[in-house]
Amino acid sequence: MPELALLEQVVDKVRPLLGQGKVADYIPALAGVNPNKIGIAVTSIDGTTIGAGDYLEPFSIQSISKVFSLTLALTLYEEQEIWSRVGKEPSGQSFNSLVQVELERGLPRNPFINAGALVIADLLQARLGAPKHRMIELIRGLSTNPSLISDKMVASSEFEHSARNAAIAYLMKSFGNFNNDVDTVLRSYFHYCAMRMSCADLSKAMLYLANKGRCLDGTQLISPIQTRQMNALLATSGLYDGAGEFAYRVGMPGKSGVGGGIIAVIPGDMAVCVWSPELDHNGNSLAGTAALETLCQTLGRSIF
Ligand code: DON
Repeated sequence: MPELALLEQVVDKVRPLLGQGKVADYIPALAGVNPNKIGIAVTSIDGTTIGAGDYLEPFSIQSISKVFSLTLALTLYEEQEIWSRVGKEPSGQSFNSLVQVELERGLPRNPFINAGALVIADLLQARLGAPKHRMIELIRGLSTNPSLISDKMVASSEFEHSARNAAIAYLMKSFGNFNNDVDTVLRSYFHYCAMRMSCADLSKAMLYLANKGRCLDGTQLISPIQTRQMNALLATSGLYDGAGEFAYRVGMPGKSGVGGGIIAVIPGDMAVCVWSPELDHNGNSLAGTAALETLCQTLGRSIF
């Protein structure tokens, strides 16, 4: 577990990077976020959480929700039912690309690009009576924060600008890899993306990935082997087309979102969440990546 002073040093070190990235504006409701924010929180497997900077401020988790969706699907389906619908390979394309879906006949490369997450959302829709409710319940439980909510403004802003995600879903439907009504699944998917959580909430919620599938409250959510597999997928595909650069600089399994959050895991030790809204060219938080790089280098930790 790092000292609180180290987290404060990390925040101070990367603060000069604020101003060098670009806040996501393709979702209008996200464009108005204050760019000058930087927070970091760490939850260790002994259950303690510490943080620095804006670590208690809620933000839009966006694609970080793809970790929760896959986890929920793993609790509902046999593995083969999932992996016959979505692959396990890095995409080498931007997170919302359509070309690969066409070339690879409707089979998304992995569950963390939009196409893959939409297939997972389709699976959740098929098996759950109230998927949005179940997801919020899961996330509240994992973070031990019963007051978490999904931001309706952000979710409907995304739905109104959903041409690209809808195109991806319809393309997959044309190949027989999407079963439910596209708009219904899109609404659920946007609801998951629009969850508002702080770095402290997210580092607590992701603790199971550092602790062989065991959550903060002691329940076993997924098995140790499933957790290892999830971390392998996060290491290879969690940062989209920036996964190689992230592995090189940070060396931890991680998942980013266009709200500027990144979660990362040191298996057997701790879950970390950073947040800073300005993104780099791959859609990953610029100062957030630098904060994780500084933290790992200072701690001398890497999975490699
Ligand atoms: O579907 C979308 O485009 C967004 N709701 C989520 C994208 C995202 O966070 C990609 N992350 N870097």
